[in-house]
Amino acid sequence: METKYLENWLRDAHAMEKQAEEMLKSQAKRLEHYPALRARIDQHLEETTHQSDKLERLMTELGIDTSALKDMGGKLSAFGQALGGMMAGDEVVKGGIASYAFECFEIASYKALIAAS
Ligand SMILES: [Fe+2]
Repeated sequence: METKYLENWLRDAHAMEKQAEEMLKSQAKRLEHYPALRARIDQHLEETTHQSDKLERLMTELGIDTSALKDMGGKLSAFGQALGGMMAGDEVVKGGIASYAFECFEIASYKALIAAS
């Protein structure tokens, strides 16, 4: 495996976690009528921030910089998703579906990283 792929995938994973942080923050803000779901989202936000920090530490150890462009792209995507969700009457269910799909994407990304390392 070429090192450049591993480096790029780590940058992608970092941008993915930044996107997740933004998605979870905007979801949590709009769940005032769903306290149990909001608590679980807040818990996952904490896990996501922890994961993002772990990635940053690993990348620093390996001498790999994060990509400001990819991180910004992830945050912008999250902003677009949040805006789209606000228009829907069923935004809580749609948010749950989007979060489930995003978690599957995260799992696949980390499996690829594990296989490549
Ligand atoms: Fe996650």
